[in-house]
Amino acid sequence: MKFDTPAITNPIDQLKIVGHPVDRIDGPLKTTGTAPYAYERHDVAANQAYGYIVGAGISKGRILSFDLGRAQAAPGVLAIVTHENAGKLGKGKLNAAKLLGGPTVDHYHQAVALVVAETFEQARAAAQLVQVNYARTDGAFDLAQARESTERRTANRDNTVGDFAGAFAKAEVRLDQTYTTPDHSHSMMEPHATIAAWNGDRLSVWTSNQMIDWTTGDLATTLGMPKDKVHLMSPYIGGGFGGKLFLRADTLLAALGARAARRPVKVAMQRPLIANNTTHRPATIQRIRIGATAQGKITAIGHESWSGNLPDGKPENAVQQTRLLYAGEHRLTGTRLAHLDLPEGNAMRAPGEAPGLMALEVAMDELAERVGLDPIALRVLNDTQVDPANAARPFSQRRLVECMRTGAERFGWSQRSARPGLVRDGRWLVGMGMAAAFRNNQVTKSGARVALDRRGVVTVETDMTDIGTGSYTIIAQTAAEMMGLPLERVVVRLGDSQFPASSGSGGQWGANCSTAGVYAACIKLREAIAQRAGLDAASAEFSDGMVRAGGRSVPLAGLPGLAGQERIVAEDAIEFGDLDKRYQQSTFGAHFVEVGVDAYTAEIRVRRMLAVCASGRILNPKSARSQVIGAMTMGVGAALMEELAVDARLGFFVNHDLAGYEVPVHADIPHQEVIFMDETDPISSPMKAKGVGELGICGVGAAVANAIYNATGVRVRDYPVTLDKLITRMPDAA
Ligand code: MOS
Repeated sequence: MKFDTPAITNPIDQLKIVGHPVDRIDGPLKTTGTAPYAYERHDVAANQAYGYIVGAGISKGRILSFDLGRAQAAPGVLAIVTHENAGKLGKGKLNAAKLLGGPTVDHYHQAVALVVAETFEQARAAAQLVQVNYARTDGAFDLAQARESTERRTANRDNTVGDFAGAFAKAEVRLDQTYTTPDHSHSMMEPHATIAAWNGDRLSVWTSNQMIDWTTGDLATTLGMPKDKVHLMSPYIGGGFGGKLFLRADTLLAALGARAARRPVKVAMQRPLIANNTTHRPATIQRIRIGATAQGKITAIGHESWSGNLPDGKPENAVQQTRLLYAGEHRLTGTRLAHLDLPEGNAMRAPGEAPGLMALEVAMDELAERVGLDPIALRVLNDTQVDPANAARPFSQRRLVECMRTGAERFGWSQRSARPGLVRDGRWLVGMGMAAAFRNNQVTKSGARVALDRRGVVTVETDMTDIGTGSYTIIAQTAAEMMGLPLERVVVRLGDSQFPASSGSGGQWGANCSTAGVYAACIKLREAIAQRAGLDAASAEFSDGMVRAGGRSVPLAGLPGLAGQERIVAEDAIEFGDLDKRYQQSTFGAHFVEVGVDAYTAEIRVRRMLAVCASGRILNPKSARSQVIGAMTMGVGAALMEELAVDARLGFFVNHDLAGYEVPVHADIPHQEVIFMDETDPISSPMKAKGVGELGICGVGAAVANAIYNATGVRVRDYPVTLDKLITRMPDAA
């Protein structure tokens, strides 16, 4: 189904099941520990052996030789895979560095060997005996240092409208500030894990991955085999956040280990390897310049961002939202990429906007103070209903102003003191901050297969994944709504490369696109069923387990001619035309935060948070709310705690486990509230939904930092905002 004109009224609009806060259909499996995650699939292949990854001990250089004798002789060892015996490997389209290093080493903890043994403990013990002899070379590891050398080389990435430099120079008010965000690690609960089994030249892998089709393709490419001989399954995923978008070393090495040991092999990436072996959100240095009139009208807005990556990597697109969020005639945005020899930087929840808004929305707070406006008033004054670079291109929906006003009302924003450092509650200095939330809505092809059986049960099959987000549930709701069935009569099967390729889970596109694909397949199934029932397909209505047309109704259970195992099967995909070019599709929101800062110790505590989101139809308010409160929590982590500490001498992330890489726990997170604006976006898809899972993090960091400023009068522009950056600058507590 091609979607190229705005959606008209369709069966989803009935909202009998879609739009309701139904519990997750996979909830009982998760809460009883019976949802089978990849590493636990003891049942899928007999005689599984264990693989343990050896990570490179240098960040750049060459492997001169291996001494494997002691490891090979260790108890239980079955095989050791290295680049010397792995055979010729290709490189996946989506991988910036080789997943099995050697002879060159591209980054610290790049996998250089896999030890396969009878038991996990034997594999781990033998891995300690692998001796790798390296020749180390110098690398570039420090973004601030690398920034200077890259500035001019990549200046062609700039995106300009009008004459930014001239308008900025002439502006009555000029803000020119630099902000930094550190490297972040996804820190999902379930580590990357895979079981691989060969059957002749066919490979089956049970893994934990967000994008089945990408990863199946890249695994086949890397192994030099046809894609249709790889069967990849990932039905349950314990968190991804972008860290599982791509083929990673656990999957490739499990496949290589299984080939070498001639047995199924399971590999879980050990936690201390994840930070340096896999991808991370790259650190940024962001310079923001805003020129405005004395009344606060923006005349010039400039945002440049520097980040680093391996030679084949991409820059963090932290300027993305600045092209679209505020009006202003003269504009400049650009990303600059420094070559760094750290592990690969790549997508992490709301890549671009998440770190970009951490800078932009603090700059707006600073500008508001400079021009003497309330932060919300400044944003309202500079709102735009069209793409600021192209007035002929409206937003499909844009209710940023309503989000801010609704939030202000609900949060008690009028109680905020415009002057910082004035509100005390015992030993706590108390402040409020807000930020706009913005995240683009991306649309991408998504397919599904649906089938009706004799019992009147509809089964949906698509390679869409559920990374803890609720995909199973919203897909079941969609099929139930379309077919006029109760949820109990829909079965959803996900995450299998033998199912039609879907959008996958990424970039907050999964909910809207994958359900739209199910919608398309259900339209076809409805036609097929009506035909089989001898009814007019165009006027057929599906409700209460019946199909009705022309005064006749036929139950879906026991449809005429459906006997035994026979099913009526329909398959289709949603494909998107150019509506995303004619209209700018984005999601909007507003975040409000109240913090307390200890007047004596500068300890920061978040006291309450509110998010207001405008992101099209909310398919399930319960799972959507869970996404947003999780994202808000992650935003608090980015604001106050998260930082991969770079050893700029040797080139690695030092705090590479969950003891040293701090994320918020329950005790850090107080009252959270989420409000969804009641809206539909008919330009986005037949579902009229948009993404929300990433919108929830966008702006949170800045809202926290702005609240800290409001509490203390101390502006910190380098994240995370930790007490050591505040304490020497705190107002005199006496
Ligand atoms: Mo998202 S960072 O595309 O999983």
